[in-house]
Amino acid sequence: MALQISALFSYLRAPLGPGPLSRVCADFQGPGVRFKHMFSHLGGNQATSPVRGHIKAALRAEKFSTTTATAIWKSSQVKGSSSPRGTRGWLGKVALGAALGVSTVALVQSLHTGTVTAMAGKVNLNSAEGDWKKTKDNLLSLSVKDRRQHYSTANFVPLEAVSVWTPTAGSSEQTLCQRNEKLDQKISLYSGDITKLEVDAIVNAANKTLLGGGGVDGAIHRAAGPMLKKECASLHGCETGEAKITCGYRLPAKYVIHTVGPIAQGGVGEEEKKALRSCYKNSLTTATKNAARSVAFPCISTGVYGYPPEQAVHEALATVREYLDEHHDKLDRVIFCVFLPTDKELYLQTLPLYFPAAPTEATVKSKL
Ligand code: APR
Repeated sequence: MALQISALFSYLRAPLGPGPLSRVCADFQGPGVRFKHMFSHLGGNQATSPVRGHIKAALRAEKFSTTTATAIWKSSQVKGSSSPRGTRGWLGKVALGAALGVSTVALVQSLHTGTVTAMAGKVNLNSAEGDWKKTKDNLLSLSVKDRRQHYSTANFVPLEAVSVWTPTAGSSEQTLCQRNEKLDQKISLYSGDITKLEVDAIVNAANKTLLGGGGVDGAIHRAAGPMLKKECASLHGCETGEAKITCGYRLPAKYVIHTVGPIAQGGVGEEEKKALRSCYKNSLTTATKNAARSVAFPCISTGVYGYPPEQAVHEALATVREYLDEHHDKLDRVIFCVFLPTDKELYLQTLPLYFPAAPTEATVKSKL
């Protein structure tokens, strides 16, 4: 409904051409919401006037109270109204709005204020009250500009502010992968708080309950607000290596992809390696399934879960490299978000092994 309202108001504010409600094609697009209205001159034969047609259609469709629609329709036929922007144009619009089941008072209010806020109401993201599904739909239907009003942080980091990591030529003699120039602009190494990143999806190193915890999990839940936990509770947990997606709510990230890393306190075997790779692979698959084209990973399992970072970095980079080789068209950016200086060093040393630079002249010569 909120989407219908916002689609409607984007039309109601649209400038009208000459002549009473002259030929206007309003095409309200939106998921499940599509209104296409062609209005020709209102002054013509009333019986064929499209506005009357629309009200009748809406009455049928919306079982709308005839009182409001008829009253508005009659008053919009007042002769002598001046320009289309005068009463006739204005009332014709209200008639359309009314026919779409939107209260006249609010319409008048919005026509004067030109904002939809009065209609859609502010979503209170600080409270665990309210329906997380409606809140999620509302937030995901907003433009980035409008979503920014709901962020819990003012100092978010837009994607364009996250520099692309490019391998310096010859930065490492031996490489573990062939060069793939298609991936040159796809990788970033970002040092800082993942909850500030304004990307399509951030990955959360969660636990099996998905109900929050410490570390990056705690930081994400704090920044997202209580609605995140409400949606997570509806997912009924997550197995190690699996990944599940939710809305980002008050985060600058549109989505959160929750994954559960292996606990490697007692050392790392094949099972832990496989589980960690699954976290990265399933998170990327979940991202691309939801058309998320920029994804940021923390160093999964290397905190509380005790996976040695110098081993985890290889599972992370090898899996992301393998996925990008196959699906580079589905992702614009994969960001490795490191929080500790030691992790930053580790990634700087290891990235060139998996994402090698073009060979320099010297290295080419040395191989001849
Ligand atoms: N932004 C980015 N990275 C962060 C942030 C942050 N705000 N906070 C912590 N990190 C880093 C840590 O420095 C570590 O490198 O995230 C990495 C993962 O550490 P943990 O958060 O401890 O995650 P993990 O080791 O996978 O353990 C998961 O810890 O928090 C609980 O509920 C969580 O039970 C789960 C377990």
